[in-house]
Amino acid sequence: MTDNQPPASAFPSTLEEARRRAERLRRVIEYHNYRYYVLDDPEISDAAYDALMNELRALEDAFPDLRTPDSPTQRVGAPPLERFGKVSHAVPMLSLGNAFDPDDVRRWYDRVRRLAERDHIELVVEPKIDGLAVTLLYENGRLALGATRGDGLTGEDVTPNVRTVRSIPLEIPVPVPDRPWTEGMPPFPRVITPPPRLEVRGEVYMRKSDFEALNRRQAERGEKTFANPRNAAAGSLRQLDSRVTARRPLSFFAYGVGIVEGVAFATHWEVLGYLGALGFPINPDARRFASLDEALAYAETWMARRHELDYEADGLVFKVNDLGLYDRLGVAGREPRWAIAYKAPPSEAVTLLEDIVVNVGRTGQVVPAAVLRPVEVGGVTVSHATLHNADYVQERDLRIGDHVIVKRAGDVIPQVVRPLPEMRTGAERPWQMPDCCPSCGEPLVRPPGEVAYYCTNVACPAQLVRRVEHFVSRGAMDIEGFGSKQAARFVELGLLRDPADLYFLKREQILALEGFADKSADNLLQAIEASKKRGLARLLFALGIRYVGSTVAELLARHFATLDELMAATQEELEVIEGIGPRTAASLVEWFRRPSNREMVEKLRHAGVSFARAGEEGGEQEQPLAGLTFVITGTLASFTRDEAKTFIEAHGGRVTSSVSRKTDYLVVGENPGSKVQKAKTLGVRIITEEELLKMVNQTG
Ligand code: IVH
Repeated sequence: MTDNQPPASAFPSTLEEARRRAERLRRVIEYHNYRYYVLDDPEISDAAYDALMNELRALEDAFPDLRTPDSPTQRVGAPPLERFGKVSHAVPMLSLGNAFDPDDVRRWYDRVRRLAERDHIELVVEPKIDGLAVTLLYENGRLALGATRGDGLTGEDVTPNVRTVRSIPLEIPVPVPDRPWTEGMPPFPRVITPPPRLEVRGEVYMRKSDFEALNRRQAERGEKTFANPRNAAAGSLRQLDSRVTARRPLSFFAYGVGIVEGVAFATHWEVLGYLGALGFPINPDARRFASLDEALAYAETWMARRHELDYEADGLVFKVNDLGLYDRLGVAGREPRWAIAYKAPPSEAVTLLEDIVVNVGRTGQVVPAAVLRPVEVGGVTVSHATLHNADYVQERDLRIGDHVIVKRAGDVIPQVVRPLPEMRTGAERPWQMPDCCPSCGEPLVRPPGEVAYYCTNVACPAQLVRRVEHFVSRGAMDIEGFGSKQAARFVELGLLRDPADLYFLKREQILALEGFADKSADNLLQAIEASKKRGLARLLFALGIRYVGSTVAELLARHFATLDELMAATQEELEVIEGIGPRTAASLVEWFRRPSNREMVEKLRHAGVSFARAGEEGGEQEQPLAGLTFVITGTLASFTRDEAKTFIEAHGGRVTSSVSRKTDYLVVGENPGSKVQKAKTLGVRIITEEELLKMVNQTG
């Protein structure tokens, strides 16, 4: 199949000719559908696909007898129903018992071994998709019926709806390329003739990305949004008007069979391979294992990355691979003993929003935070969650006293998703951003175009505490023994007016504080002293300049040898640095322009804090020329120009070609040029070759 438009063959004039052409078109269209929706690997452009569909539509318009329900043109849905018909399941649709930890799974496995009277039981492990179960009956390769699970014995007939789900084949086998999709997947045999009857079972679900896009669309149109992908999938499939279903982005994974005629399977792994070969989407994370330990090890790695998947899965299903054991193992109630759901810790919970407080950050940004009745989410207890900004609270109509859904995805910080208004008693209180800073009482401002509110008082104690906390933190100046508690206490007592004051703390001042004795005071002073040598990158990060995180700080320190060089840089000079955008550049310029910040920098300098790159000044690999910029003029006695340059750089210095205010030394040899005059004018120190050698403790 190629990317070309179909040949502009003459329009068929007889029904027979049209039928042949339509059949061919349908096969080709279903193949490309499969490439697009199942393999996620389209072979032709959307335009070429549309051209094929248009041709088929034109044929069906001219010969309406050709318009059968399983034509790909009919995936747009059918006229609405009054109600769904009932379908009774010849093979019941079972549910699954749950395991919540590896021990539960081991107990299940031991029982399987006992009942099967075997030591080794092969397992298949597959994600447990969070959608809704459907069964699809194919008769002679054609989709004849689609039904929901219902109570397991009787479900609803949703045939017109399932026909609109693009990854559910209308006819099987879809001409499938002759290869397995992913390593570890069951081998796909070649299937040419469809079985007379086959019931395929699986999960209709909505991808997270599709769910988000759908909710955005719904909100834009003022229509109802869905709480989660599972509700969206269920609500979309169970529509009396299947034209609505057709507009919803539904997906499908096949995971089993019901009625089977004309084929025989020995293992579940074979079932998956066969379904894959027919053209059904099989979950690429399905795996077969010879032992429980291997299966559990896989479960552990899979659980850790499940949040990265584009679908919601609430755990894994462990299934006995040997179908020959199923009868023997039997069913307990509605739950077969040959399978168990190993549930991941739930990543959503409901709890009480006890209060909304505001925190002042180190940039002055005032951020609302939820105080929650402690609740376990995804395996950890959560009692606080950020509410981001005032708009976040308003848009969700979160009220103090509300029951709220709290969500935690992976190691991401917990989120308050939404309130449950149906739980309200009337005692809930709406919340508003306060007018004034809760710490210093200054009015808050909201810069135009921003969602955030700020306290712009540079002397705001809350901001100062946050700045000190950041300054002493691990990735910054790393001052051991000085944490949030000390930051708050020292600020409160007026011992710190900015982070640089840390370097001027007196032993007596520390000793006077509760909790400090001789030893701990000395330790703290030592830790403060040690922090002076962290180097430029860590210092820059520690200053807490907006948009200067540790990565940007590293970039800057690679570019500038000292803090003074960076301070002298203009917006333009900063912007040309790879990885520094205009926003960061502007923030740096603005930060260094402020008198209070400059004053702090001078205090740091005065205290002896290193402004050079780590290891280039002080510390173990003391480099005598670190942070210094040299210009050379005239002929030197013991070096060529290049050798002198290498020598200076090897000792941590930098060599530039022209004298400027940033030059520290001009090294003068025989017959110097005009640079001497310039250096004199600018007040740059002039040294001889011997003096340079002395600076690194070497004699000529
Ligand atoms: S097997 C007897 N495999 O989980 C086993 N079920 O609680 C029947 N589900 O109703 C189902 N992913 O909706 C199986 N890979 C998977 C599944 C899966 C999701 C759902 C299905 C079923 C429910 C059972």
